[in-house]
Amino acid sequence: MLIRMARKSDPKPSEITSRDDYLNRRKFLASSGLVAGSMALGSGLASTPAQAAVERPGVGEALTPLVDGYSKLGDSDPITPYDAVTSYNNFYEFGTGKEDPAENSGPFNPRPWEITVDGLCANPGTIGLEDFLKPHDLEERIYRLRCVEAWSMVVPWVGISLGDVVKRFEPLGSAKYVQFETIVRPEEMNGQRSRRILPWPYVEGLRLDEAMNPLAILAVGLYGEVLPNQNGAPIRLMVPWKYGFKSIKSIVKISFVEGQPKNTWQVMASSEYGFYANVNPKVDHPRWSQARERRIGDFLRRETLMFNGYEEEVGEMYADMNLRRSY
Ligand code: MTE
Repeated sequence: MLIRMARKSDPKPSEITSRDDYLNRRKFLASSGLVAGSMALGSGLASTPAQAAVERPGVGEALTPLVDGYSKLGDSDPITPYDAVTSYNNFYEFGTGKEDPAENSGPFNPRPWEITVDGLCANPGTIGLEDFLKPHDLEERIYRLRCVEAWSMVVPWVGISLGDVVKRFEPLGSAKYVQFETIVRPEEMNGQRSRRILPWPYVEGLRLDEAMNPLAILAVGLYGEVLPNQNGAPIRLMVPWKYGFKSIKSIVKISFVEGQPKNTWQVMASSEYGFYANVNPKVDHPRWSQARERRIGDFLRRETLMFNGYEEEVGEMYADMNLRRSY
């Protein structure tokens, strides 16, 4: 992965949405019926034609009902504008440029969608997305996202608790890790037509206790609407204390396994990317410093926080580890 400098297309600080503005707008939309669609939680995916006129990929498919989930933000963590969240992406299945996923993911069709859960668990199976989501609350979680390339954003995700999903499939005592795989569909994903970009499918993994941490979610939306294709439709991982590459997109397979999975970036360059990939300002990437980051929309760089600011929530899981080597 490469570092990119500020671009003209980055939003100006004045265009950034404050958390309060965003939440007030969401409440307004809900009270005017624009977000709170009439569909039962059954699918969790509602359609609101009133919004269809607005040019946003997720519009017309508001997620409802939403409950407020855990979000911990600092004073200087305004929410990154929708346009930036959906036009500055990493999703190599659609190309390696930041604008490529938004430009090339139009032909990708994330419905219908099935997820296979297999490996060391009592309830394996292949399940349609609606049934997969049905037992779970859709929560809004506003998280910082810190890419290993030293840029960051603040994104209002909509998702379900990964820990609850894990419990539902009843991992056996021998299951120590959870492995995730992205769909392979070269006919719709132009980047997958070349194996020189990455070995497909994109694979990621978490230790079982990391997957059970209350911060970990499977996201199905952002800004109250279904996930746009470029952000990993229809379902992606979001583990905000780890570098962004851990948060695998467009998941079709979840496997409970005994051995530590080999994640894609580790396979590509094991001297640069590891399995844990916890955000750590004291451990530099071999080719650049991780001490600071560029928040999309900011002019000046800011200091990177240990575990991306979530040390209180996740630090205990790594008490025994030498974090200087946990890259
Ligand atoms: N998942 C897949 N399948 N393919 C990818 O290329 N890129 C990762 C991660 N998940 C990637 C992926 C990286 S490097 C980052 S920083 C985040 O997605 C970016 O998520 P965003 O585009 O929604 O901001």
